[in-house]
Amino acid sequence: MTTTAPPTRVHAASRPDSPWWRQAVIYQIYPRSWADSDGDGVGDLPGITARLPYLRDLGVDSVWLSPFYTSPQADAGYDVANYRDVDPLYGTLADADILLAAAHDLGLKVIVDLVPNHSSDEHPWFRAALLAGPGSPERERYLFREGRGPDGDLPPNNWQCVFGGSAWSRVTSEDGQWYLHLFDIRQPDFNWENPEVRAEFEDILRFWLDRGVDGFRVDVANALIKEAGLPDWDEPLHLLGDDEGVVHEPNGKRAPMWDQDGVHEIYRAWRRVLNSYNPIDADGYSGEHDRILCGEAWVDSQERIARYVREDEMHQAFNFDFLKTQWRADDLRNGIASSYAAADSVGAPTTWVLSNHDVVRHASRLGLPVGTKRPNGIGVGDPQPDTALGLRRARAATALMLALPGSAYLYQGEELGLPDSTDMPDDVRQDPTWPRSGHTERGRDGARVPMPWEGNRPSYGFGPSDQTWLPQPASYAALAVDRQADVEGSTLELYRALLATRRERGLGVGSLSWWEGLSEDVLAFVNASAAGERNLVITNFGVEPVVVPEGAQALLSSSPLGDGGAVPTDTTVWLTW
Ligand code: GLC
Ligand code: CA
Ligand code: MG
Repeated sequence: MTTTAPPTRVHAASRPDSPWWRQAVIYQIYPRSWADSDGDGVGDLPGITARLPYLRDLGVDSVWLSPFYTSPQADAGYDVANYRDVDPLYGTLADADILLAAAHDLGLKVIVDLVPNHSSDEHPWFRAALLAGPGSPERERYLFREGRGPDGDLPPNNWQCVFGGSAWSRVTSEDGQWYLHLFDIRQPDFNWENPEVRAEFEDILRFWLDRGVDGFRVDVANALIKEAGLPDWDEPLHLLGDDEGVVHEPNGKRAPMWDQDGVHEIYRAWRRVLNSYNPIDADGYSGEHDRILCGEAWVDSQERIARYVREDEMHQAFNFDFLKTQWRADDLRNGIASSYAAADSVGAPTTWVLSNHDVVRHASRLGLPVGTKRPNGIGVGDPQPDTALGLRRARAATALMLALPGSAYLYQGEELGLPDSTDMPDDVRQDPTWPRSGHTERGRDGARVPMPWEGNRPSYGFGPSDQTWLPQPASYAALAVDRQADVEGSTLELYRALLATRRERGLGVGSLSWWEGLSEDVLAFVNASAAGERNLVITNFGVEPVVVPEGAQALLSSSPLGDGGAVPTDTTVWLTW
C-alpha cells in the first residue's frame, strides 16, 4: 500500500551533537526493590553497584535513583531526615561514592532524587521547630498555623492530603498550632517563602554535585509554593490528576497548592547553580557534561508543563499526559502532537514515560479495558487485568515511545514485561495510601515488588536470602532476567534491540512527521535523522492487519509480523526503506 498525502511535519530534528539529556533513555531504579546485597530483604546501594553492568548491556544512558537518604521510611524514603547522608538500610555515603564511580566507568550517568517540598518529621529542623514553639524562627521553616474555631481545634483550612484525610495535624492541644503536610502526616511541608530554606537546598544541590551526580529528579516540583493566605479548596488532592487530566484547575480556578507561578523563580536559581557545574569546551559545546534537573510536576496541560522547562529553568519534565493516555490511536496522536507543540515552543525536549513507582505498571494498566479509569493500585477483589493483552500492548507502547524524538524514562522491571502484583494480600501493603484512604485506595505497592533476576533462586535472585520486603508473585519466576536473556522474542531482548536501534539510527534526535493514508486505527509516523535517513513507525490499534508500504523493510517489531510483513493488532513495527 502507498500513500499520496505528503507527511505532516510535527517536530523538527535536533542537532546530532545535541546535549545528552535531549535524547537520553534513563532507567529508574527504586533502591528498595532492585538488588539486595546482604539478604535483609531490602535492596541497597552495594546491590545496585554489583548489577550495573546489566544496565550497560541493556543500553540505557543513565539511571535515576529514587531516594536512598536517611529516612524513617514513612513514605518509602520520600520522607528525608538527612539530605546529605545515606540511610543505613541502603548503605553508607562511601557506598554512594562507589556506585557513582562504577556507573561512570560503565559510561552511565546518575541522577538522584531531590525531595524539596517536605522533609521527614525526624528531620532536625522539624524536631527543633516542635521544641522551639509557636512564634519561633524554627517554626518559620515549615507551615505552622493556628487552628480555626473558638479553641483552635479545627484545622487552619479544609485541604485534604494526597494520601487521604486532612492535610493538617495538630502538634498538641497545649501547643495549639497545626502543621501542613500535603502528603503523609510524617512529611511536613517546608515554607519556601523563607530564604533559609532556599539557601539550604542550594547547598544540598552543591553537596551532591560535588560528589559527581549528573542531575536531580525533583519530587513534586509543582507544590513548593502555596497561594498566599492558604485559601480553602473543596476538591480532593489527587497527585496524578484524573483521567481527563483536569483536577488542578476545575472551573478555571487554580488549586492553591499546585503549580503556583512562584515555583519558577526557585528553579531559575537552581539552574544557575547547575550551570556553574556545566563547563563549556574550547569549541563552545557543553552538552556531554551537563548536569540536569528533571521535574516531577503533575500539572493540567502541556502548556503548563512547558513552563518548567523554559531555557533558564529545568532541562526536562515528565510528560505524564502520555502515561495517562488511553490505548487509542487518536488520543495518542493528539497527545504526541500537543506535547511537541508545547515543548518546542520553549526549545525543550519532550520527556516520555509510561511507568514509575507511583502508578500501576503499563503491562497491567493496558490489560484493563480501554476507557477504564486509571486505578491507584489493584488488589484482591478488584477487576483483574488481562495479562497477555496487557503485555502485548505494553510492548507495542514501549516500541512506540522509544521511536519518539526526545528523552524517555524506563521503570525497573518494565524491560521484563513485569505486571503489577495485583493479588497481594492487603495486610502486607506498606504504602500509606491504603490506611490513610480508609482502605479505599490500594496504593502503589503493586508496582514496587522486588526484581526477579534468577527464576530458580530464593527471592528470584533479588538477594542472597529468601527475604523480600514485599512478596513476589509466582508469575515473576518465568519473567526473571536469566529466563529472558538471549531468548529470541523475550521482552528483555525486545528492549535491548529497541535501545540499540534507537541509538544507531539517532531516533532520539530525529524529526517527526505523520504518515497519512493508513486506517484511522493506526498511528504512523516517520522519524528522520538530520541527514535524511528515514524510519517509519507503525502502531496498529485495530483488528485488521496493516499492510506496510512497498519497499519498506522491518527493523524490529513488538510482536511477530503476519503474512507479507503485515502488522497485526496491538503491534508496533519499525521500518526502513
Ligand atoms: C512523589 C513521589 C511519590 C511520593 C510523593 C511525596 O510523587 O514520586 O512516591 O509519595 O512525591 O514525596
Ligand atoms: Ca539490603
Ligand atoms: Mg550513614
